[in-house]
Amino acid sequence: MRDQMPTALPFTSPWLLAPMEGVTEPCFRDVVLERHEPHDLGGAYTEFVRVSGTPIPQWKMTEHLGPRRFGQPVGLQLMGSEPGPLAASADAAIRAGAPLVDINFGCPSKGADKDCAGSAMLDYPDRIETLVRACVAAACGRVPVTAKIRSGIREDAGLEEIARAAESGGAAMITVHCRTKEERYRDCADWSRVARAVAAVKVPVCGNGSVETHADLERMRRETGCKYTMVGRAALGNPWIFSGRQVTAAEAARFLLDYAEALRDRRSFHENGIFGRIKKLLSFWTAGGLFASAAVKDRWLREKEPERLWAWLQEQAGSGTLHVSKSR
Ligand SMILES: Cc1cc2nc3c(=O)[nH]c(=O)nc-3n(C[C@H](O)[C@H](O)[C@H](O)COP(=O)(O)O)c2cc1C
Repeated sequence: MRDQMPTALPFTSPWLLAPMEGVTEPCFRDVVLERHEPHDLGGAYTEFVRVSGTPIPQWKMTEHLGPRRFGQPVGLQLMGSEPGPLAASADAAIRAGAPLVDINFGCPSKGADKDCAGSAMLDYPDRIETLVRACVAAACGRVPVTAKIRSGIREDAGLEEIARAAESGGAAMITVHCRTKEERYRDCADWSRVARAVAAVKVPVCGNGSVETHADLERMRRETGCKYTMVGRAALGNPWIFSGRQVTAAEAARFLLDYAEALRDRRSFHENGIFGRIKKLLSFWTAGGLFASAAVKDRWLREKEPERLWAWLQEQAGSGTLHVSKSR
């Protein structure tokens, strides 16, 4: 029988791209990953894959992982509440090639609540332990299993117990999104909670919550003792946050055009779907001084005609290659 201890974490640097539903699907991840050396960005995660009732088949996991591979690992994140289907899905993810599997104990959505999954689990550390243990047993030493938690539901008093439960289940790393469920995504990220988790467990902790700049990546490690730092929304505004490279407006526009083209060519998104995804990203966007002012940004967020946005981005990028046909 294979060793059931978690294998070594495969990250190539301490800086990780957070799982983000509706964003970190393969097209977005690839345009980020292809712009980073493994020593700048150490790894990424898929959006969460919800497991309710029946296990997710291997072909679906293959879709979430996408066809391209880079120097950095992309972990497959699962969210569910039943050990059997979750463990079978973890096995399917590994067979599909996932180099690590993560379990989501942080999603605050109503859907997660309904299934008693995601952050709804935070009041039940024993169930967190059981779910992690089931996935670690299914992984059977092939890849590490990690867990992503929040600091609690309403308050943070149970943080240490939650982190220890994930560790007891066999998690090889615990990512701590330092807000509580009730704090959602508010500007109140308290990094001392990451430090408390670091003190509570022996496995590496990945700190997460309001890392806004490249300098914050190292600052979070220094101030909390966490081994890894994960970036969510700031990477949507500046995908180069991991390397700290200052890009030009042309590079910023090229990123957005490459992402749009990938959604069209690889995922057959219709023009309105692409427009929606690009505008969502633009709402966070800060890189490359693409917008001369908040008013200019606001003007593009209110734009109704995709063609006008593509033309403007092509002009910024200095070349015209995107032609999103309405018939697709
Ligand atoms: C649009 C969006 C989607 C998210 N989807 C997920 C998800 O699928 N899985 C997960 O564990 N966290 C998800 N999160 C939470 C992020 O991974 C991260 O924990 C959170 O944004 C805090 O980090 P930040 O302050 O750097 O943004 C999502 C966040 C955002 C903004």
